[in-house]
Amino acid sequence: MTAILSVEPTASAPALRLRPWRAEDAVALVAAHRDPLLRRWLTTSLVSDTEARRWIDDQSEGWAAGVRLSFAVLECGGEERDPGRPVGHIVVKATDPNEAAATVGYWTSAEVRGQGIASRALEVVSRWALGAQRIMPLARLDLLHAVDNHGSCRVAEKCRYVLRSVLPAQPPAFPHKGHLHVRMNSDM
Ligand SMILES: CC(C)(COP(=O)(O)OP(=O)(O)OC[C@H]1O[C@@H](n2cnc3c(N)ncnc32)[C@H](O)[C@@H]1OP(=O)(O)O)[C@@H](O)C(=O)NCCC(=O)NCCS
Repeated sequence: MTAILSVEPTASAPALRLRPWRAEDAVALVAAHRDPLLRRWLTTSLVSDTEARRWIDDQSEGWAAGVRLSFAVLECGGEERDPGRPVGHIVVKATDPNEAAATVGYWTSAEVRGQGIASRALEVVSRWALGAQRIMPLARLDLLHAVDNHGSCRVAEKCRYVLRSVLPAQPPAFPHKGHLHVRMNSDM
């Protein structure tokens, strides 16, 4: 089971469609991963078409197992039949089934940043994930980012993820101090 979500256009920003990643997105994925900011803050870096296709296969398996629900964020033009182009990514990863909790992650392509795409996409996914969907029933979403990643912190605030704690660095996996933000389904 998968899901397709959409976000209405605003006066200054186009409509967004969110759907599972597909093999045909590999080229856009590699292009997005060339960006230094994305490489700085993500643990996974995709440099070749082969790596991107393998990563997309992993995302499909994540949906099939109901443990990793990832969306390509597509910017759509005005045309009804426009398939859109991938400009971002949002993922909901199962963490603790006993607590019905998951962690969200996200990025946007360098050329579309600052247009509200990450926050509009994260908002619709958060509502969906904490709502009535039955693929991964959830009561809580966690959002972790490095303290110095101010853009990510702003996206968390805009999507009403409350700052819960400051986490110490844990190298090598987490070389920077982190912020843990939380959004509960009771906050909806
Ligand atoms: C963080 C990221 C997803 C934001 O994407 P985006 O599409 O630009 O996000 P939005 O446009 O919805 O909002 C960004 C907000 O952060 C603010 N912002 C961006 N960079 C900032 C910075 N260096 N310092 C402070 N605020 C910053 C913007 O002004 C905007 O806030 P505003 O609407 O109040 O003006 C994007 O920069 C990115 O992909 N970064 C690399 C990957 C990453 O860090 N992912 C998160 C890992 S936890």
